[in-house]
Amino acid sequence: MQKLISSKTNYYLLVFSFLIAGLINAGNPERSKNGMVVSASPLASNVGIEILKKGGNAVDAAVAVGFALAVTYPTAGNIGGGGFMVIHLADGTNTTIDFRETAPYAAYETMYLDSLGNYNAQLSQTGWLSSGIPGTVYGLISTLEKYGSMKLADVIQPAIDLAENGFMLTYNMAESINKYHNDFIKYESSKKIFTNNGNKFKEGDSFVQKDLANTLKLIRDNGKEIFYNGIIAEKIVNESNKNGGIFTRKDFIDYKSLERKPVIGIYKGYEIISMGPPSSGGICLIEALNILENINFEKQQWHGSTHIHYLAEALKRVYADRSIHLGDSDFFNVPIEQLISKDYANKLFTGISDTATNSLALKAREFNQHESDQTTHYSVADKYGNAVSTTVTINSAYGNKIVVEGLGFLLNNEMDDFSAKPGAQNQYGLIGSMANSIQPKKRMLSSMTPTIVLKEGRPFMVIGSPGGSTIITQVLQTVQNVIDFNMNIYDAIAAPRIHHQGLPNQIDYEPFSISDDTKSILTGKGHIFGKELSLGRMEGIVIDIDNKIFYGATDPRDYGKAIGF
Ligand code: GLY
Repeated sequence: MQKLISSKTNYYLLVFSFLIAGLINAGNPERSKNGMVVSASPLASNVGIEILKKGGNAVDAAVAVGFALAVTYPTAGNIGGGGFMVIHLADGTNTTIDFRETAPYAAYETMYLDSLGNYNAQLSQTGWLSSGIPGTVYGLISTLEKYGSMKLADVIQPAIDLAENGFMLTYNMAESINKYHNDFIKYESSKKIFTNNGNKFKEGDSFVQKDLANTLKLIRDNGKEIFYNGIIAEKIVNESNKNGGIFTRKDFIDYKSLERKPVIGIYKGYEIISMGPPSSGGICLIEALNILENINFEKQQWHGSTHIHYLAEALKRVYADRSIHLGDSDFFNVPIEQLISKDYANKLFTGISDTATNSLALKAREFNQHESDQTTHYSVADKYGNAVSTTVTINSAYGNKIVVEGLGFLLNNEMDDFSAKPGAQNQYGLIGSMANSIQPKKRMLSSMTPTIVLKEGRPFMVIGSPGGSTIITQVLQTVQNVIDFNMNIYDAIAAPRIHHQGLPNQIDYEPFSISDDTKSILTGKGHIFGKELSLGRMEGIVIDIDNKIFYGATDPRDYGKAIGF
């Protein structure tokens, strides 16, 4: 189907017309018998599938894909950032790995405010002050050591080869890098790698990253210690000192990824296994599903006015809670159990009427508007019954655009995910949240929602997306599309989506996602329509458990690949 599409508009039109016509099989997912890897980078998906073919498990493949994405998808794949991994093991274990970045010890609550107390976005989004302590290397390696079956040298080697030998830039990769040309040329270290001798890249250019290959070799030969208490940490801290940053060796020595209990909910008999704090993703997804469970969607038309009304109303309530209650639970008391309880959701549901609620009445508080959508998700499932759902990020596209001199990788600007001005009134006169204030060693709140859905205790769906604050709503709708509207995973991902995050009090929507008739009914109920935009980039797997068939789909909004074997 993708080959038939000449533009994004045609794609939306095609999908929409299929869906409206009730022709559910608008597209076909990739199909396989022994495993599936789906990521935003075809090269990285291929690395993962080769690991599965060698007998590796889903964790081995997920770690290999993680390192490969740092080479082939530097937009968001990284070793200079962080992420979250949700794991289901064949023995029934459900667990999560939190390798989110931490604030440096020298960070403080008002560090991004100027002398007049005004928030300075430049400081939290660009330059060395914008970076948290990277967690990816710790997270990937400690997960491999505990749950993998292969050696680090074997799973990291494909990434080293891709960096050392280079790969051909596709049109889209070249365009993506060139979009930030003016940022990259500001830093000699970045110009060296992300420009073609100072010029823009062209489709077909070879993209070689020798410094990154050497860094990955150091990690291969010495493990995570070299990144956190060795030459790599030393070089990063030296560069930070030279360039106005606040990193110290102790920040790196003390960094640890954390294994945390997942948040778990039940939706219409399916178990939802997702990421808890410091991500808001899992809690918000489960809270929204619990509210929506009160509706029998089988009797509702997909994206009819009832469907959109309840989606929007549920999301307003969820994002109101997010803005007040969510932050790093090691620093702030997050009422997790209450937020994901059925009783609480049922109470919220009884507050939903036939007309739109004003988000301000829900005491929703506006949160970080700069949350970036340049993150990336990948999904892996193996023939042994294991599944891994991973979302990684350096926040903005190419993070803060700073390559660490001599090390070849980009740094994150994840500090921008903190609430930079807690306690201050926003434009609505509401108080910003302390839950996500900046504190040394604290992890900034995320919306990443890597999720595994279980059916009868076995992996049924592995899903996630980039999209900043919209990640939660995109994952929610894709889960609903599969469970409530019986779509195959390709259609579930391809179907146009909407977004509501409480404040601004508006429904944002993809082209052709809502018909004019439906819009006018919803406007009559008091809903306000906001931006028309593209939402999310899902990478998903659905498993036919009885017939042991893996179905994978990458989002047709982007250029990733589902590969099975
Ligand atoms: N930086 C995007 C997120 O963590 O949600």
